Amino acid sequence: MTCKWTLVLLLGLSISTLAEKPWWQTASFYQIYPRSFKDSDGDGVGDLRGVTENMDYLKEIGITGTWLSPFLKSPMADFGYDISDFYDVDPLFGTMDDFEDMMSRAKELDLRIILDFVPNHSSDECEWFIKSAARDPEYEDFYVWHPGFEYNGVRYPPNNWVSVFRGSAWEWHEGRQEYYFHQYHKKQPDLNYRNPAVKEAMQDVLLFWLDKGVDGFRIDAIHHAFEVAPDANGNYPDEPRNWWNNDPEDYGYTDHVYTADQPETHQLVYEWRSLLEEYQAQNGGDERILMTEAWSDIDTVMKYYGDGTKDGSQIPFNFQMISNLWWDSDAYHYSEMINSWLDRLPEGKAANWVIGNHDKNRVGSRFGSDRMDMFNMLLLTLPGCSITYNGEEIGMTDVWISWKDTVDPQACNSFEDGYEYRSRDPARTPFQWSNEHNAGFSDSSSTWLPVGDNYQTVNVETERDEPLSHLNIYKQLQELRNEDTFKNGEGEVLPLNRYVLGVHRYLHGDYTYVTLLNIFDSIENFDLSNHFDNMPSSFEYVVINDKSIRAIGDVVSSKSITLMPKESVVLKSTTRQ
Ligand code: NOJ
Ligand code: MG
Repeated sequence: MTCKWTLVLLLGLSISTLAEKPWWQTASFYQIYPRSFKDSDGDGVGDLRGVTENMDYLKEIGITGTWLSPFLKSPMADFGYDISDFYDVDPLFGTMDDFEDMMSRAKELDLRIILDFVPNHSSDECEWFIKSAARDPEYEDFYVWHPGFEYNGVRYPPNNWVSVFRGSAWEWHEGRQEYYFHQYHKKQPDLNYRNPAVKEAMQDVLLFWLDKGVDGFRIDAIHHAFEVAPDANGNYPDEPRNWWNNDPEDYGYTDHVYTADQPETHQLVYEWRSLLEEYQAQNGGDERILMTEAWSDIDTVMKYYGDGTKDGSQIPFNFQMISNLWWDSDAYHYSEMINSWLDRLPEGKAANWVIGNHDKNRVGSRFGSDRMDMFNMLLLTLPGCSITYNGEEIGMTDVWISWKDTVDPQACNSFEDGYEYRSRDPARTPFQWSNEHNAGFSDSSSTWLPVGDNYQTVNVETERDEPLSHLNIYKQLQELRNEDTFKNGEGEVLPLNRYVLGVHRYLHGDYTYVTLLNIFDSIENFDLSNHFDNMPSSFEYVVINDKSIRAIGDVVSSKSITLMPKESVVLKSTTRQ
C-alpha cells in the first residue's frame, strides 16, 4: 500500500515537474531576416506578408518560435538596426495591419514571435535625436554628447574610442556644435542609459510591443548599452591600446574597457526581465522571454542569465560555436567549446546553441557544405534550445558579392582590398524556396542582394523530394526533439578520439540516443561502452547523412560502430533503458 502510494506520488511529481518546464527551454527557434525571406509585393525586398504567407513552412520544419530582425521604421543605414520610430513598421516591410495579421496567423499556428529590440542606439533621423541635437530640454541628454577639445584652432574628438564599423566613434554635429558617440554607424547615435528618461522611454517601447502580443525580445548589442560614466569635468577616458593592432581606425586598435560590458548593463537586463514578469503577472499568458546578444567573454555572458538573486535573460546567446570553432577544429576542441557552456551554466538555467546569424558567414561556408548536417545534428540534439538562422536548414552558403555591389555598411566603411572579410552581405542573400525565377523569393526583375547561383539544387522544394537532403535531415531531427529523452533527459558531450564527437542523451526508463559526428575524412570504429556509461547493447539508426552506408532502421551492436568519412548519425537504443 505504502509502496503504491509512493509510486503514485512520484508519478504525480514527475508529471507536474514535466508540465512546469517553460515553453522556451527546449524550443527550436528560427531567425528570419525579413529583407531576404520572402517578397510578397514584387519590389525585390522581403516583407511581413511574405513571412505570414510562409508560416506553414516554419511549422513543417518543427519551429517553436521565430525572432525577426528589425522591421520598424528606418532609413536603412544598417538595414533596420537604425530605427527612426520604435512604434511603427517600415513601409518597405508593410504596415501595422500586416504586423497584426502576422501575429494572428502565428497564434493560429501556435508559433511564438520574438521582436528584435534595438535599445543601444536609434537612427539619427529618430525624433529623439533631432530634439536632442536641438537641445530640447526633455531630450538634451538622451544621447552621449561632448564638445571635444580645441587645440590651435582645430577641434578634436573627445578621445580615442573607435566604432565597430571603423573610424572614430565620435561624429561632429554642426547643429549642436558637439560630438555624439556612435558605437556603430554614424547614423546610429548611442542612447545615454545614464539618463533615467532613456530607460523609461525604452520600457514604454517594450510595453507597447508586449501589448501587441509578442512573446519576447531579442536584445541587440546589449554589451554596448552603457559607456563609462564621465568624470567630474564631463570627460571620457581613452581606452588602452591593443599591442597587436596598428590601425587606429580599426575596432581592434583599443581594448574596449569603457565602451562594452559595463556592470550597469547586466542590471539593465535584470530590470527588463522583471518588467516582463510584472507584465505576465498582470496580463497572464506564458512566460515572455529575453534573448541577449553580447559578444563578450563567456563569464561575462553568463552574468546575463542573472546574478543568483535577480534573473536576467533566459537566453543569453551562446556564440561559442560561432566564435571558437574553425575549419580544422578537432573533436577535443568541439567538446571543450560545448562543455565550457554546460559547465558554467548557473543552476536552474537552460543552455542555448547558435550556429549562425545574419552577421556571420554561413555554416556551410565556414565549415564546408559536407558538414552542414553535422552541425544541424549537433545543434538539435544538444540539451537546451536551438537557434537556426534562415537558410541553414537547407544548407545555403555564402554568396560572393563584388565590391561595387556591396551594401553592408560594415563593409562599405572599409576598402576594396579586404572588404570581403568584413561584409555580411554574403550571408543575407534571398532565401531559396524553389528552382524558379529568383529562387521563388520574388517576382521582381532584380533582388536587393543577388540570389545564390546554387539555387537550382539548394532550395526547399527540391530538397523536400530528396530523402537525405539537408532539409529532410533537419526535419527528422526536429521530430526527435519531441521525444521525452530530448525534452527532459540529461546530456553529455565527449570526444571519442580526435576525429569523432559524441552526444549522449538519456532519461531513466526511456530510450537512449547517441549522436556521432565524424568531423574529418578517416574511417573510424568504436565500442561505445568504452566511452559512455550504461551503453545499451544495440542501437538503431534513426538519422543518417549522405555519407552513411547504413539505412535508417538498421540495427547494430554498440560494441562496433563504424563511421565513414564525414558521416554523422543519430542512434537510438533498441530498448528503453
Ligand atoms: C548587432 C546586429 O546583429 C547587427 O546586424 C547590427 O549591425 C548591430 N548589432 C548594430 O545594431
Ligand atoms: Mg551605448
